[in-house]
Amino acid sequence: MKSEANTSSIREWTPDSWRNLQATQQPEYPDSGELERVLQQLAEFPPLVTSWEVDRLRTRLAEAATGKRFLLQGGDCAERFDECRPDIIANRLKVLLQMSLVLIYGLRLPVVRVGRFAGQYAKPRSEALESKNGTKLPSYRGDIINRPGFDPEDRIPDPSRMITAYSLSGVTLNHVRALGEGGFADLHHPENWDLGFVLHDDLRQEYQDIVDSILDAIRFMEAVSPNPIGDMDRVAFFTSHEALLLPYEEALTRPDALHDRTYNLSTHFPWIGARTAFEGSAHVEYMRGLANPIAIKVGPEMAPSELKTLINVLDPDSIPGRLTLITRLGVERIESLLPPLIQTVQRMGKRVLWSCDPMHGNTEVLSSGLKTRRFENILSEMELSFDIHASHDSALGGVHLELTGENVTECTGGAGGLQDKDLGRAYRSQVDPRLNSEQGLEMAFSIIRKKRRMLS
Ligand code: PEP
Ligand code: CO
Repeated sequence: MKSEANTSSIREWTPDSWRNLQATQQPEYPDSGELERVLQQLAEFPPLVTSWEVDRLRTRLAEAATGKRFLLQGGDCAERFDECRPDIIANRLKVLLQMSLVLIYGLRLPVVRVGRFAGQYAKPRSEALESKNGTKLPSYRGDIINRPGFDPEDRIPDPSRMITAYSLSGVTLNHVRALGEGGFADLHHPENWDLGFVLHDDLRQEYQDIVDSILDAIRFMEAVSPNPIGDMDRVAFFTSHEALLLPYEEALTRPDALHDRTYNLSTHFPWIGARTAFEGSAHVEYMRGLANPIAIKVGPEMAPSELKTLINVLDPDSIPGRLTLITRLGVERIESLLPPLIQTVQRMGKRVLWSCDPMHGNTEVLSSGLKTRRFENILSEMELSFDIHASHDSALGGVHLELTGENVTECTGGAGGLQDKDLGRAYRSQVDPRLNSEQGLEMAFSIIRKKRRMLS
């Protein structure tokens, strides 16, 4: 009997074989000639990342899958063209760096840092249309496709926005790389590790203690060893985004003739969103043939049998580091839904990296119409995820968070005690509510406290 894996791998894969399948969440471009011109141009542009960086990330994710590293993946729900600014980019890096420092120190593990940036411009939408005061318009689908304003013009999909998305991804990545190479994260310069944002006193002290003890350790190492500590002044960030807009992804898909492989070189680590992760989807078909490490968002709708099929299709050869499963089940349902998913993977004898997205299963809409998420629900889903994995002889190896380095008020709770009534003060997201920098750092502390409790 043929397995599902065999059946699908017999079908020939090409960067455009997804075009024969059901591609949901795609815009309808009014001008197909313009679309073709844009795609042709994108296909001739240089890639944004290199295959050797992608391979390096896959090796690190493989180590995270065996408990030797921890994955921290975070950033905006959606990047905005008008937020490609040095302060916003640097602040986002800063909070991710600070969180990773806390995690490295508290977990005693190296952290793989992956940003939801330099390409996170396309958004899946539950509703194709948005209504306001009796008017219906096509939904905003992210800056790579259309504009968020509520005017018919704004919502027309425009292919040239793909060129802008590509260019701004390159600009963002260049700035991230320059900061990473240029000593931004050098622990010898503690001013870079300073908390620029308002922080609750207890957290500030806890954070400062960690920075001080790391600095002590570095000074000690330098005193006893004549060699400077290797890579301490450089820091690696990898990029990720949801591979949603398939024509764009296809145009940035490049062969590595030497190794007979094909990479998506618009990002290191593309993922399949919950709405497009189903058997027979064009998105699954596209991702199947890539050499990149990839992730699947696993939501409450995914039955264990469907997960099994997807794993067979997407990682038939069980390549270490290839597959990350990001569960986003919601605090109410994780206890019933996660165990059968874990058991399915175990029965298949597969090693995947399990990560937890405690954001997308915990979104609420307030009577004001604002979307929010409660810090306590986010934290509970994360803690339950650690516990459920541990009690099923599995391990949670990473987290996936929507956060920003800005002092926004989009999620309630946390040490700052934000309440529903505070949300209007600095609510900036056009899509999902993000943790602000203080809440992000608090989440990192919560993770290490949780792990300590589990070990004691
Ligand atoms: C997202 O990560 O922004 C997202 C839309 O997630 P999901 O596919 O899990 O709903
Ligand atoms: Co989101």
